[in-house]
Amino acid sequence: MKPAVLIARQVFPDVVARLREHFDVEANDAPIDWPQPELIRRLQGKAGLFVAATEPIDAALLAACPDLRAVCSMAVGYNNIDISACAERGVVVTNAPDVLTETTADFGFALMMATARRITESERFLRAGGWQRWSYDLYSGADVHGTTLGIFGMGRIGQAIARRGALGFGMAVVYHNRSRLAPELEAPIGARWVEKAELLRQADHLVLVVPYSPASHHAIGAAELALMKSTATLTNIARGGVVDDAALAQALAEGRIAAAGLDVFEGEPQVHPGLLAVPNVVLTPHIASATAATRMKMAMLAADNLIAVLRGAPPLTPVTPVRP
Ligand code: DGY
Repeated sequence: MKPAVLIARQVFPDVVARLREHFDVEANDAPIDWPQPELIRRLQGKAGLFVAATEPIDAALLAACPDLRAVCSMAVGYNNIDISACAERGVVVTNAPDVLTETTADFGFALMMATARRITESERFLRAGGWQRWSYDLYSGADVHGTTLGIFGMGRIGQAIARRGALGFGMAVVYHNRSRLAPELEAPIGARWVEKAELLRQADHLVLVVPYSPASHHAIGAAELALMKSTATLTNIARGGVVDDAALAQALAEGRIAAAGLDVFEGEPQVHPGLLAVPNVVLTPHIASATAATRMKMAMLAADNLIAVLRGAPPLTPVTPVRP
Protein backbone atom coordinates (compact mmCIF):
# COMPACT_ATOMS: atom_id res chain seq x y z
CA MET A 1 0.00 0.00 0.00
CA LYS A 2 1.25 3.49 -0.84
CA PRO A 3 1.74 5.91 2.08
CA ALA A 4 -0.85 8.66 2.27
CA VAL A 5 0.14 12.32 1.94
CA LEU A 6 -1.71 15.62 2.02
CA ILE A 7 -1.01 18.62 -0.23
CA ALA A 8 -2.29 21.54 1.81
CA ARG A 9 -2.53 24.09 -0.99
CA GLN A 10 -3.04 24.34 -4.73
CA VAL A 11 0.12 23.56 -6.63
CA PHE A 12 1.24 22.72 -10.19
CA PRO A 13 -0.63 19.66 -11.59
CA ASP A 14 2.78 18.18 -12.57
CA VAL A 15 3.81 18.22 -8.92
CA VAL A 16 0.58 16.53 -7.83
CA ALA A 17 1.09 13.94 -10.59
CA ARG A 18 4.66 13.27 -9.42
CA LEU A 19 3.48 12.71 -5.87
CA ARG A 20 0.67 10.42 -7.09
CA GLU A 21 3.31 8.13 -8.60
CA HIS A 22 4.51 7.39 -5.07
CA PHE A 23 1.67 8.13 -2.70
CA ASP A 24 -2.01 8.00 -2.08
CA VAL A 25 -2.51 11.78 -2.44
CA GLU A 26 -5.22 14.04 -1.11
CA ALA A 27 -4.73 17.52 -2.59
CA ASN A 28 -6.31 20.87 -1.90
CA ASP A 29 -7.43 21.93 -5.36
CA ALA A 30 -9.25 25.09 -4.29
CA PRO A 31 -7.75 28.57 -3.82
CA ILE A 32 -8.41 28.48 -0.08
CA ASP A 33 -6.41 27.89 3.09
CA TRP A 34 -7.83 25.10 5.20
CA PRO A 35 -8.38 26.21 8.79
CA GLN A 36 -6.29 24.24 11.26
CA PRO A 37 -9.11 21.91 12.47
CA GLU A 38 -9.74 20.91 8.86
CA LEU A 39 -6.04 20.41 8.20
CA ILE A 40 -5.86 18.17 11.28
CA ARG A 41 -8.92 16.21 10.18
CA ARG A 42 -7.50 15.65 6.71
CA LEU A 43 -4.10 14.68 8.10
CA GLN A 44 -5.43 11.66 9.98
CA GLY A 45 -3.64 8.58 8.67
CA LYS A 46 -1.28 10.71 6.54
CA ALA A 47 2.50 10.23 6.73
CA GLY A 48 3.48 13.31 4.75
CA LEU A 49 2.42 16.93 4.39
CA PHE A 50 3.25 19.33 1.54
CA VAL A 51 3.03 22.98 2.60
CA ALA A 52 4.30 26.45 1.71
CA ALA A 53 5.10 29.52 3.81
CA THR A 54 1.79 30.12 5.54
CA GLU A 55 0.29 26.93 7.01
CA PRO A 56 0.96 27.04 10.76
CA ILE A 57 2.45 23.69 11.78
CA ASP A 58 2.58 23.82 15.56
CA ALA A 59 2.79 21.48 18.54
CA ALA A 60 -1.01 21.16 18.77
CA LEU A 61 -1.27 20.02 15.15
CA LEU A 62 1.58 17.56 15.58
CA ALA A 63 0.01 16.11 18.74
CA ALA A 64 -3.26 15.61 16.84
CA CYS A 65 -1.57 13.95 13.84
CA PRO A 66 0.49 11.06 15.22
CA ASP A 67 1.05 9.40 11.82
CA LEU A 68 2.86 12.41 10.38
CA ARG A 69 6.53 11.73 9.55
CA ALA A 70 7.47 14.51 7.16
CA VAL A 71 6.53 18.16 6.60
CA CYS A 72 7.99 19.37 3.30
CA SER A 73 7.70 23.03 2.42
CA MET A 74 8.11 24.63 -0.99
CA ALA A 75 9.27 27.84 0.74
CA VAL A 76 12.76 28.64 1.94
CA GLY A 77 11.47 30.44 5.04
CA TYR A 78 10.02 28.09 7.66
CA ASN A 79 8.90 30.39 10.46
CA ASN A 80 5.39 28.89 10.07
CA ILE A 81 6.72 25.52 11.28
CA ASP A 82 7.62 24.75 14.89
CA ILE A 83 10.94 23.06 14.20
CA SER A 84 11.61 22.08 17.83
CA ALA A 85 8.18 20.45 18.17
CA CYS A 86 8.76 18.55 14.92
CA ALA A 87 12.22 17.43 16.07
CA GLU A 88 10.81 16.23 19.39
CA ARG A 89 8.28 14.05 17.58
CA GLY A 90 10.76 12.85 14.98
CA VAL A 91 8.91 14.63 12.17
CA VAL A 92 11.38 15.56 9.43
CA VAL A 93 11.08 19.12 8.11
CA THR A 94 12.46 20.25 4.78
CA ASN A 95 12.49 23.61 3.03
CA ALA A 96 13.40 24.82 -0.47
CA PRO A 97 16.69 26.73 -0.42
CA ASP A 98 18.96 27.60 -3.38
CA VAL A 99 16.45 27.09 -6.19
CA LEU A 100 14.91 30.51 -5.52
CA THR A 101 18.04 32.50 -4.64
CA GLU A 102 18.71 34.32 -7.92
CA THR A 103 15.02 34.89 -8.74
CA THR A 104 14.39 36.36 -5.31
CA ALA A 105 17.51 38.52 -5.53
CA ASP A 106 16.33 39.83 -8.94
CA PHE A 107 13.07 40.83 -7.34
CA GLY A 108 14.67 42.38 -4.26
CA PHE A 109 16.87 44.49 -6.48
CA ALA A 110 13.95 45.43 -8.75
CA LEU A 111 11.82 46.43 -5.76
CA MET A 112 14.66 48.52 -4.38
CA MET A 113 15.09 50.25 -7.74
CA ALA A 114 11.34 50.81 -8.18
CA THR A 115 11.30 52.35 -4.72
CA ALA A 116 14.33 54.59 -5.27
CA ARG A 117 13.11 55.76 -8.69
CA ARG A 118 9.43 56.12 -7.68
CA ILE A 119 8.23 53.90 -10.51
CA THR A 120 4.82 52.86 -9.20
CA GLU A 121 4.11 56.24 -7.65
CA SER A 122 4.73 58.01 -10.96
CA GLU A 123 2.76 55.39 -12.88
CA ARG A 124 -0.26 55.99 -10.65
CA PHE A 125 0.08 59.72 -11.37
CA LEU A 126 0.23 59.09 -15.13
CA ARG A 127 -2.72 56.69 -15.14
CA ALA A 128 -4.77 59.18 -13.15
CA GLY A 129 -4.26 61.73 -15.93
CA GLY A 130 -2.00 63.97 -13.85
CA TRP A 131 0.80 64.29 -16.45
CA GLN A 132 0.42 67.68 -18.16
CA ARG A 133 4.00 68.70 -18.89
CA TRP A 134 7.67 67.72 -18.45
CA SER A 135 9.26 69.30 -15.42
CA TYR A 136 12.82 69.20 -14.10
CA ASP A 137 11.70 67.78 -10.76
CA LEU A 138 8.83 65.54 -11.81
CA TYR A 139 9.10 62.41 -9.63
CA SER A 140 12.82 62.80 -9.15
CA GLY A 141 14.08 60.01 -6.98
CA ALA A 142 17.37 58.71 -5.62
CA ASP A 143 20.28 57.21 -7.53
CA VAL A 144 21.04 53.56 -7.04
CA HIS A 145 24.38 53.28 -8.88
CA GLY A 146 27.39 54.38 -6.89
CA THR A 147 25.50 54.58 -3.58
CA THR A 148 25.76 52.44 -0.44
CA LEU A 149 23.74 49.24 -0.36
CA GLY A 150 22.97 47.93 3.11
CA ILE A 151 21.99 44.31 3.55
CA PHE A 152 20.47 43.06 6.79
CA GLY A 153 20.75 39.25 6.69
CA MET A 154 23.64 38.14 4.51
CA GLY A 155 22.56 34.60 3.65
CA ARG A 156 22.39 33.24 0.11
CA ILE A 157 19.79 35.76 -1.07
CA GLY A 158 21.48 38.67 0.68
CA GLN A 159 24.76 37.78 -1.01
CA ALA A 160 23.05 37.52 -4.41
CA ILE A 161 21.58 41.02 -3.96
CA ALA A 162 24.98 42.31 -2.86
CA ARG A 163 26.56 40.87 -6.03
CA ARG A 164 24.02 42.71 -8.18
CA GLY A 165 24.72 45.98 -6.35
CA ALA A 166 28.51 45.73 -6.25
CA LEU A 167 29.20 44.23 -9.66
CA GLY A 168 26.32 45.65 -11.68
CA PHE A 169 25.76 49.08 -10.12
CA GLY A 170 29.10 50.00 -8.54
CA MET A 171 27.57 50.13 -5.06
CA ALA A 172 29.53 49.99 -1.83
CA VAL A 173 28.15 47.07 0.20
CA VAL A 174 27.79 47.09 3.97
CA TYR A 175 25.99 44.30 5.79
CA HIS A 176 24.96 43.05 9.18
CA ASN A 177 24.57 39.39 9.95
CA ARG A 178 24.96 37.25 13.07
CA SER A 179 28.21 35.95 11.65
CA ARG A 180 30.68 37.53 9.24
CA LEU A 181 31.13 36.09 5.78
CA ALA A 182 34.38 34.34 5.01
CA PRO A 183 36.93 36.79 3.53
CA GLU A 184 36.78 34.99 0.17
CA LEU A 185 33.05 35.78 -0.04
CA GLU A 186 33.44 39.39 1.12
CA ALA A 187 36.37 40.31 -1.11
CA PRO A 188 34.91 39.98 -4.64
CA ILE A 189 32.04 42.31 -3.77
CA GLY A 190 33.95 44.51 -1.32
CA ALA A 191 31.37 43.73 1.37
CA ARG A 192 32.00 45.14 4.84
CA TRP A 193 30.43 43.73 8.04
CA VAL A 194 29.19 46.51 10.35
CA GLU A 195 27.18 46.70 13.55
CA LYS A 196 23.44 47.00 12.98
CA ALA A 197 23.30 50.67 14.04
CA GLU A 198 26.12 51.46 11.64
CA LEU A 199 24.32 49.64 8.83
CA LEU A 200 21.24 51.78 9.44
CA ARG A 201 23.30 54.98 9.49
CA GLN A 202 25.36 54.21 6.38
CA ALA A 203 22.90 52.63 3.95
CA ASP A 204 21.41 54.68 1.13
CA HIS A 205 19.32 51.66 0.24
CA LEU A 206 18.68 49.11 2.98
CA VAL A 207 17.40 45.66 1.99
CA LEU A 208 16.07 43.24 4.60
CA VAL A 209 16.67 39.55 3.94
CA VAL A 210 16.92 38.27 7.52
CA PRO A 211 14.85 35.18 8.45
CA TYR A 212 11.93 35.81 10.79
CA SER A 213 12.29 34.48 14.34
CA PRO A 214 11.45 35.85 17.79
CA ALA A 215 14.94 37.41 17.70
CA SER A 216 14.23 39.34 14.50
CA HIS A 217 10.68 40.40 15.46
CA HIS A 218 10.44 44.18 14.86
CA ALA A 219 14.17 44.34 14.21
CA ILE A 220 13.27 47.51 12.32
CA GLY A 221 11.05 49.75 14.43
CA ALA A 222 10.83 53.43 15.29
CA ALA A 223 14.27 53.54 16.96
CA GLU A 224 15.98 51.86 13.99
CA LEU A 225 14.16 54.00 11.41
CA ALA A 226 15.31 57.08 13.33
CA LEU A 227 18.94 56.08 12.67
CA MET A 228 18.46 55.96 8.89
CA LYS A 229 19.20 58.81 6.50
CA SER A 230 16.12 60.86 5.61
CA THR A 231 17.03 60.20 1.95
CA ALA A 232 17.31 56.41 2.41
CA THR A 233 15.00 53.69 1.14
CA LEU A 234 14.02 50.49 2.93
CA THR A 235 13.14 47.29 1.05
CA ASN A 236 11.67 44.27 2.86
CA ILE A 237 11.61 40.90 1.10
CA ALA A 238 12.22 38.95 4.32
CA ARG A 239 9.04 38.42 6.32
CA GLY A 240 6.30 40.52 7.79
CA GLY A 241 7.09 41.00 11.45
CA VAL A 242 10.74 41.86 10.83
CA VAL A 243 9.48 45.44 10.38
CA ASP A 244 7.09 47.23 12.73
CA ASP A 245 4.69 48.25 9.95
CA ALA A 246 2.91 50.90 12.07
CA ALA A 247 6.23 52.58 12.86
CA LEU A 248 7.26 52.38 9.20
CA ALA A 249 3.99 53.92 8.01
CA GLN A 250 4.52 56.79 10.42
CA ALA A 251 8.15 57.28 9.35
CA LEU A 252 7.08 57.36 5.69
CA ALA A 253 4.23 59.78 6.38
CA GLU A 254 6.59 62.11 8.25
CA GLY A 255 9.33 61.86 5.62
CA ARG A 256 11.82 60.42 8.12
CA ILE A 257 12.97 58.05 5.38
CA ALA A 258 12.40 58.66 1.67
CA ALA A 259 10.50 55.56 0.62
CA ALA A 260 9.95 51.85 1.17
CA GLY A 261 9.44 48.79 -1.01
CA LEU A 262 7.53 46.01 0.71
CA ASP A 263 6.78 42.49 -0.48
CA VAL A 264 5.89 41.12 2.96
CA PHE A 265 3.68 42.45 5.74
CA GLU A 266 2.70 41.84 9.34
CA GLY A 267 -0.52 39.82 9.27
CA GLU A 268 -0.49 39.48 5.46
CA PRO A 269 -2.56 39.37 3.32
CA GLN A 270 -3.83 42.26 5.45
CA VAL A 271 -1.76 45.42 4.95
CA HIS A 272 -1.45 48.10 7.63
CA PRO A 273 -3.84 50.93 6.60
CA GLY A 274 -1.09 53.49 7.24
CA LEU A 275 1.01 51.89 4.50
CA LEU A 276 -1.89 52.03 2.05
CA ALA A 277 -2.34 55.70 2.83
CA VAL A 278 1.18 56.95 2.00
CA PRO A 279 2.38 57.50 -1.58
CA ASN A 280 6.09 56.79 -1.06
CA VAL A 281 5.83 53.02 -0.79
CA VAL A 282 5.84 50.26 -3.41
CA LEU A 283 3.64 47.36 -2.30
CA THR A 284 3.69 43.86 -3.78
CA PRO A 285 1.86 40.70 -2.60
CA HIS A 286 4.71 38.39 -1.43
CA ILE A 287 5.90 37.53 -4.93
CA ALA A 288 9.69 37.76 -4.64
CA SER A 289 10.20 34.14 -5.75
CA ALA A 290 7.29 34.14 -8.18
CA THR A 291 8.49 33.18 -11.62
CA ALA A 292 6.87 30.13 -13.15
CA ALA A 293 10.21 28.34 -13.51
CA THR A 294 11.36 29.00 -9.96
CA ARG A 295 8.04 28.21 -8.30
CA MET A 296 8.05 24.91 -10.21
CA LYS A 297 11.56 24.13 -8.92
CA MET A 298 10.53 25.01 -5.36
CA ALA A 299 7.46 22.78 -5.52
CA MET A 300 9.33 19.89 -7.18
CA LEU A 301 12.02 20.11 -4.50
CA ALA A 302 9.37 19.81 -1.79
CA ALA A 303 7.89 16.81 -3.62
CA ASP A 304 11.31 15.18 -3.98
CA ASN A 305 11.96 15.72 -0.27
CA LEU A 306 8.66 14.07 0.59
CA ILE A 307 9.48 11.11 -1.65
CA ALA A 308 12.96 10.74 -0.13
CA VAL A 309 11.85 10.93 3.50
CA LEU A 310 8.92 8.54 3.17
CA ARG A 311 11.15 6.06 1.36
CA GLY A 312 13.56 6.19 4.28
CA ALA A 313 16.24 8.05 2.32
CA PRO A 314 17.98 11.20 3.61
CA PRO A 315 16.06 14.39 2.83
CA LEU A 316 17.61 16.58 0.13
CA THR A 317 17.27 19.85 1.98
CA PRO A 318 16.52 19.22 5.66
CA VAL A 319 16.01 22.05 8.10
CA THR A 320 18.54 21.60 10.87
CA PRO A 321 16.65 20.41 13.92
CA VAL A 322 16.69 22.95 16.73
CA ARG A 323 16.80 21.13 20.03
CA PRO A 324 14.49 22.64 22.67
C1 DGY B 1 9.90 31.70 0.78
O1 DGY B 1 10.25 30.78 0.04
O2 DGY B 1 10.13 31.71 1.99
C2 DGY B 1 9.18 32.81 0.14
O3 DGY B 1 8.84 33.80 1.03
C3 DGY B 1 8.00 32.26 -0.63
O4 DGY B 1 6.89 32.20 0.04
